[in-house]
Amino acid sequence: MKSFSRYLVTAALPYANGPVHIGHLAGNFLPADVYTRYLRANKKDVKFICGTDEHGVPITIRAMKEGVSPQEIVDKYHHIIDKSLREIGISFDIFSRTSNEVHHQTAQDFFKKLYDKGLFEEKITEQFFDTEKQTFLADRYITGTCPKCQNDRAYGDQCEKCGSTLSPDELINPKSTLSDSVPVKKATKHWYLPLQNYEPWLKEWLLTEHADWKNNVYGQCKSWIDNGLQSRAMTRDSQWGVKVPLPDSEGKVMYVWFDAPIGYISATKELTPQWSDYWCKEDTRLIHFLGKDNIVFHCIIFPCMLKAHGDFILPDNVPANEFLNIEGEKVSTSRNWAVWVDEYLKDFPGMEDTLRYVLCANAPENKDNDFTWKDFQDRNNNELVAILGNFVNRAFVLLHKLCGGKIPAFHLDQKDDLDDRLLQQIIQAKNEISDSLEHFKLRDGLFKVIDLAREGNKYLQEKEPWKKTDQQMAVDNCLHMTMQLCANLAILMNPFLPHTAAKLCKMMKVVDRMLDWENAGSLKLLSKGYPMNAPELLFRKIEDAEVQAQVEKLHAGSVDANSSAGSISHDAPLLAPVKPLIQFDQFDALDLRTATIIAAKKVPKADKLLELQLDLGFEQRTVVSGIAAHYSPEEIIGLQVTVVANLAPEK
Ligand code: 2FM
Ligand code: ZN
Repeated sequence: MKSFSRYLVTAALPYANGPVHIGHLAGNFLPADVYTRYLRANKKDVKFICGTDEHGVPITIRAMKEGVSPQEIVDKYHHIIDKSLREIGISFDIFSRTSNEVHHQTAQDFFKKLYDKGLFEEKITEQFFDTEKQTFLADRYITGTCPKCQNDRAYGDQCEKCGSTLSPDELINPKSTLSDSVPVKKATKHWYLPLQNYEPWLKEWLLTEHADWKNNVYGQCKSWIDNGLQSRAMTRDSQWGVKVPLPDSEGKVMYVWFDAPIGYISATKELTPQWSDYWCKEDTRLIHFLGKDNIVFHCIIFPCMLKAHGDFILPDNVPANEFLNIEGEKVSTSRNWAVWVDEYLKDFPGMEDTLRYVLCANAPENKDNDFTWKDFQDRNNNELVAILGNFVNRAFVLLHKLCGGKIPAFHLDQKDDLDDRLLQQIIQAKNEISDSLEHFKLRDGLFKVIDLAREGNKYLQEKEPWKKTDQQMAVDNCLHMTMQLCANLAILMNPFLPHTAAKLCKMMKVVDRMLDWENAGSLKLLSKGYPMNAPELLFRKIEDAEVQAQVEKLHAGSVDANSSAGSISHDAPLLAPVKPLIQFDQFDALDLRTATIIAAKKVPKADKLLELQLDLGFEQRTVVSGIAAHYSPEEIIGLQVTVVANLAPEK
């Protein structure tokens, strides 16, 4: 097995066109973070690279939808994404952006090198063109009727109703989303990378030398290669992106999948002057973490680009995950069927590790998996609270009660089989967790942490120190072992649950260095006589009402894919038209108050009406509101609403 001097870990760059959701976390950021934290605990030289992907059609579509410039979109979402990933504990060494100058320069140099080597094919093809807006149209900018299901709002690349992959030529009555005009075909020149030329090399490098990659990854790559590769355009007609660095290339930018992976290189450049050690030395181990929709780009196209360029190393592994569904349905950002990380952090403050735990435990490592709020609650309450948190809490409470809060001595002559068994279990857990993490089997590793805490509870149960207050040595040995186990657990949980490991270190009054992986397996982590802080609960229970509220929020916020509101570019016309302008004195005449809905019921024989009992603070009032088609009485009780408090009563 090859030995490496340094590691470069990447997590796929999220598009800066919206916040990140838990599917991104489970598929990509979390596995990369757990693995990187494990490497750091092993004192490896590692750089963890990420940033936002700020070019391409998803950004321009979002800008169009919000009626602002692409730059405003990427600025807004870069910060939102950065903040939520940091808060959930994704420990990047750098979180950069592909709109940075260094990235544009790096991507252009890369492109130019391939061009100068004569590795691109130039081709002229016919593409759809919007004559009104004088612009070529990316597939996503063309809508029309789906030939398969007759949905009249299908896109040029996909029909979101029936899920078919389409090409713009297949659409019936194609229309430009920019102007509603009928697009025409027009000739345009682009630069193509002839992937078929790399096939023999890919077969050797990927299919033979990397036959050890995860089955889901290897299988997808093999089928791409077996089906035969083709030339692929590496440029697009657009104003938004990295400009093609060639004369006479006005209006041409790089295909977003050409520039985005180069973002890993530019971000490393931004991070350290030693960047070329990481990218050009063969003893660096490059590992890309990503979701399954990115496999072909990271395992075939980017490696071909790197190979063509010649100065850079290739990925040694690409442990991609499958998808995480939510409550039995595929995540859909356009339908808002998602659990957004920034919202989770607001709704569950201080519970970052619970989400990390549940997503790791359900990581879609080999097949698509499902996230449900019920399972989130169960895993938190039955595993984190009842096993791990309970063990640590019992250990600390007993230590304070039976040993004055200080680590007791261990009396060797009193050592028994249970003590030996516990030590063996700690050592074995360390080895198994290491092995799991090295093979990207994070779920297995995580479950072993919980199993070890379960063994701790069993040990306490068998030893029953609370019944042995007349045998201080037996009590000492038991609590000594128990506390050493707490310290070992802190080390072993740290890659997965860093916030909790830090909290536990604070309770044990030890510094971060104790969390070095080499320390696990030892019974000398806390010395005799060392005082411990009072226990704090590591986890709290999650109540039924909290998860119920989340399920309701998910359903209430989601847009039905079949309804016209599900389609991105058609949102605006569906909203009620804005009412005629009013003057300031009319606005000033309104007395707007916040009120709490304290009771709600249906109005008999009126389908649209709910009768609401409102508490305005200074009085309670009954009002009738035409919202029955959208809300049930039960779900709005307790919500706050704005009331026009001086509206004249009406029958
Ligand atoms: O699928 C995505 O979200 C892409 N933005 C991933 C890019 S990864 C890399 F190549 F930069
Ligand atoms: Zn369809």
